[in-house]
Amino acid sequence: MPVTANSAVTTSTVPISLGERSYSILIGEHLISNPLTWQGLKKAACALIVTNETVAPLYASRLETALKPLYDRVVVLSLPDGEGFKNFETLNLIFDQLLGIGADRRTVLFALGGGVVGDMTGFAAACYMRGVPFVQVATTLLAQVDSSVGGKTAINHPLGKNMIGAFYQPDLVVCDLDTLQTLPDRELSAGLAEIIKYGPIADMEFLSWIEDHLDALMAKDSRALAHAVQRSCEIKAGVVGADEREGGIRAILNFGHTFGHAIEAGLGFGVWLHGEAVGCGMVMAAHLSHQLGLVDISFVQRLTRLIARAGLPVQGPKLGAHVYLEHMRVDKKSQNGQIRFVLIDSPGRAVVLGADEAVVQLVIEQCCL
Ligand code: NAD
Ligand code: GLY
Repeated sequence: MPVTANSAVTTSTVPISLGERSYSILIGEHLISNPLTWQGLKKAACALIVTNETVAPLYASRLETALKPLYDRVVVLSLPDGEGFKNFETLNLIFDQLLGIGADRRTVLFALGGGVVGDMTGFAAACYMRGVPFVQVATTLLAQVDSSVGGKTAINHPLGKNMIGAFYQPDLVVCDLDTLQTLPDRELSAGLAEIIKYGPIADMEFLSWIEDHLDALMAKDSRALAHAVQRSCEIKAGVVGADEREGGIRAILNFGHTFGHAIEAGLGFGVWLHGEAVGCGMVMAAHLSHQLGLVDISFVQRLTRLIARAGLPVQGPKLGAHVYLEHMRVDKKSQNGQIRFVLIDSPGRAVVLGADEAVVQLVIEQCCL
């Protein structure tokens, strides 16, 4: 574990236990420039840093400098920024670059950025020469608490979110908390949605902690962020360790996502941020849980209050219930055309269930502006 002299927080390591695919998540300050962060990586001739036009000017040279002693050649590829670019055309730019520089199958890909860069770089790593190593250097709160961990990689299809992808684990995840200082407030809120998610599905004590420390998190207090990232990663590591390929329990990590993905796809990718759609989707899923008699309205109100305090929307866009339902039917959890939802069984415990479409429609009408 890297140790730095001038850190306000102690670096922590969260292990992901997946047999030969096991790896560590490093969480701390000044990690990108600390040589100890990278010391365990396998030797290779070449490294490709995949980033985007927003993150590159902020952090690419820091990472490039840190990696230069380890590789003969370090190349930086900057992609266009945004969810709207998480597609085949942009993915192909990574393959063009890899082939253009003559990258061999030991070349290491470094995903430097948020979930969009991470998901696309991971998918490129899974496909290039049938698999090359990759490292997640997560620079958004959402990526640090969720997308960089667990090996889900994907691009979007116009007809559905993250529909083309692969399970492919990174060799290392690095969460350098310093990078969050340049994150716009709207993006910070989007990350808070995925942190809040872990409370209702797994840990109500953590939900209470978030309620008590939300102001510190929104002020980017390093200690509060360090704890939130660590606890989120611990919970996700436990779930992924038990069910890597989402045969069962891993689906609970999709609380709020069935409604959320419908909002993202229904509005067009990139109009609402993924975290915003998930925040609102959790409110809708909590209402559905209540309609099905699983939780009290007081729980729904508590969760809604926290999501609103985090600067996230709590009412969905008025797309029409049929648009929501159409997008939800292509959700990856659907079975034989029946939409399945992650619902809260009791606070701190999630369950995956189908629901009568009339009830779902009622919830959509109740929750949309
Ligand atoms: P993102 O990758 O689009 O990043 C958000 C914005 O912040 C972008 O404009 C980016 O350029 C910018 N940015 C990144 N780091 C920055 C920094 N340190 N300072 C300033 N700006 C910075 O969005 P995201 O919220 O990180 O990720 C959302 C994506 O993650 C979605 O595509 C979603 O589907 C995916 N996701 C995947 C998983 C998974 O398990 N693989 C889980 C959750 C979400
Ligand atoms: N973000 C959901 C998952 O990783 O399974």
